[in-house]
Amino acid sequence: MSIRFDEKTSTFTLHTRASSYQMQLDPMGHLLHLYYGRKIGDASNFHLYPMADHGFSPDFYAYAGPSVRGSYSPDVLPQEYSAANRGDFRVTAADIVSAEGARGAEFLFDTYRIQPGAYTLEGLPAAFGDDCETLSVDLRDPVLGLRVRLFYGVYEARDVITRAAVLFNESDRRLTLEKAASACLDLPFGKWDMIQFHGRHAMERQMERSHLGRDIRRVGSLRGASSHHHNPFVILCERDAGEEYGSCYGVMPVYSGNHCTDIETDFNGSTRVVTGIHPDGFCWQLEPGAQFAAPQILFCCTHEGLGELSRKYHRFIRERLCRCTASQTSEVLINNWEATYFNFDQDKIYAIAQKAASLGVGLMVLDDGWFGKRDNDQSGLGDWFVNTDKLKGGLAPLIEKIHALGMKFGIWIEPEMVSEDSDLYRAHPDWALTLPGRTPILGRSQLVLDMSRPEVVDYLTDCFTRLLSENRIEYIKWDMNRNMADVYSHALPPERQGEVFHRYILGVYALLDRLTSRFPHVLFEGCAGGGGRFDAGMLAYVPQFWCSDNTDAIERLSIQYGTSFGYPVSAMGAHVSACPNHQTGRTVPLGTRGVVAMSGTFGYELDLNKLSRKELSLVKKQIARYQSYAPLIRTGDYYRLTNPAEADFWHGWQFAAPDASEALMNVVVVHPQGNPQPLHLEWKGLDPDAVYKVVRCELQGAHPGLPADGWAKECAGKTFTGAQLMYAGQTLPQLFGDYPSVQILIRKTGK
Ligand code: DGJ
Repeated sequence: MSIRFDEKTSTFTLHTRASSYQMQLDPMGHLLHLYYGRKIGDASNFHLYPMADHGFSPDFYAYAGPSVRGSYSPDVLPQEYSAANRGDFRVTAADIVSAEGARGAEFLFDTYRIQPGAYTLEGLPAAFGDDCETLSVDLRDPVLGLRVRLFYGVYEARDVITRAAVLFNESDRRLTLEKAASACLDLPFGKWDMIQFHGRHAMERQMERSHLGRDIRRVGSLRGASSHHHNPFVILCERDAGEEYGSCYGVMPVYSGNHCTDIETDFNGSTRVVTGIHPDGFCWQLEPGAQFAAPQILFCCTHEGLGELSRKYHRFIRERLCRCTASQTSEVLINNWEATYFNFDQDKIYAIAQKAASLGVGLMVLDDGWFGKRDNDQSGLGDWFVNTDKLKGGLAPLIEKIHALGMKFGIWIEPEMVSEDSDLYRAHPDWALTLPGRTPILGRSQLVLDMSRPEVVDYLTDCFTRLLSENRIEYIKWDMNRNMADVYSHALPPERQGEVFHRYILGVYALLDRLTSRFPHVLFEGCAGGGGRFDAGMLAYVPQFWCSDNTDAIERLSIQYGTSFGYPVSAMGAHVSACPNHQTGRTVPLGTRGVVAMSGTFGYELDLNKLSRKELSLVKKQIARYQSYAPLIRTGDYYRLTNPAEADFWHGWQFAAPDASEALMNVVVVHPQGNPQPLHLEWKGLDPDAVYKVVRCELQGAHPGLPADGWAKECAGKTFTGAQLMYAGQTLPQLFGDYPSVQILIRKTGK
């Protein structure tokens, strides 16, 4: 039993393998947070909170009257769910307004349940699995008639605790939710660093670490998507925490819309995290009898450093969040986007597929431009019928020919969008989000469909059900190429316009849910102008997401590095593209491009017909190599060895099989140096007592005729103990050239 309730002290203690989470009811019935951290016993930690006078922070009535001595202020209570305007001046979890316009709520204990299994949230993605035990604690505001059910899903062996909140209006009057966060977590003591993943289009998830101060830090998005700019994942860690040591807490909303995580350090030095839907632009009318579910948050706590935190999230997302059973596994894909952009016909696509098939590629993906009037990005979105000017005879003959090559066929869609110049927009202008009386704000010349309208979701369900039933399609790339403005639904009354952002994302989830469950054999890859919606919400439906429109292998190092803190390599869409690179103009050796793309779902995005014979033979070898490494890469433990932001001259990362039977080292030299310093590697995740043999050692892109020549060949076949490799390490020869890379596979041969 991972959840215990001690009736004597009214204490809930949740235990995972390495952490404990504790709450206690105070004499008034508030649910107080006592502890989250390294594993401790069940004894109450109520002693952590000495009552003291908190100056201008007001007290509860029962503690403040003339005949009462003492102080008990909501402003210092570590409440699991507190609301605005009742004396807690910190960021609160909820902001509720009654029918008479009175802002304020106070949630007091009502009842609790402990149940086996995971909980679900209506219309929202959530983690699943039998290895979970769920605690739900009902708190109630008797004045409002508002019940809040707080969920705690404890995945004991995985060190993950999920949280969510569902609000029920049990009164006979409408209540207005101006904020309904998913969770509040107080860390009353300690000095913390915050790690966040900011970015921009083509430069997503750049890791940034800073000390928390006495202020409020916010990571959020108001773009209608989780965004390129602020990924919904935040880590708090001890100031000296590193990859292998230190306490770390991960906060990951399972949500793809406007998210917000506020981290406040108050006047007492206590840190509070409030996370969930962004309160700006949000206002939900909760009718009598209705309920509102706030999205799930995945919390993870470890004292073994950032690397361990990441590995726990990787496993959890792969095994407990991602529901899609179709997977790219060791299949390599080719996508025509950077090869042709909009300029293609069936012959060009077939020629790319033919060459790819001859090299071992298993999946041909036809990107944007195959439908409607779509020769550029100015028109056609919404008209999901084939463009027969480009694809003579339609999709079927092309798909048939590609299947005849022994390949699967995949296709690009952008369901949530509509072009002004499209039949769909001409027929249903009110299906787009636009403000009455104003010209629309366009992004990539397109408008956003109002996914809050059930008829829009139904229409799209029909379109794509038809596409997938009438054609043998095994893969879908689901794109989304602009952020939302003019957020106004022509179908909702004025007082419900504050619901549009959230209803939109519920519509997206409904469509994803219908299509992924109707077509379970189809592999869905998410995309939003690259990685603009790379989040746990989307990963519940799609097992992989296009990481970035930036395919430059060197820039990808920092993008994939940042992404790896929360998300598994099996989810990171990564392709080898042409050089000079289309985004940066840089030239990186083909071998190194392969090494970087192999730390993702691996594919190609270039016209293979334009490669030399030598390059084609390298591509063939790369594909075979990836296929043999795929299980290790996709399900192995991932270790970051360097931080690209620290501007070392090389960047390294490693995979190790969970049973330590094999491991794969990857190194890229990013700043060629004169007389380079020794490049010293310390392997991770091995069995110290075992003997490992170097099965393969590939040096690619190095300047020829220098000391590294011949080293790779000599290295293969050598044996070392795990202890040698991990503790003494391995030194590479001096590497010269533009971005050379090294990949070393070792395998256990015995003890
Ligand atoms: C943005 C995506 O990230 C690209 O890979 C490509 O699919 C284009 N959209 C197509 O419009």
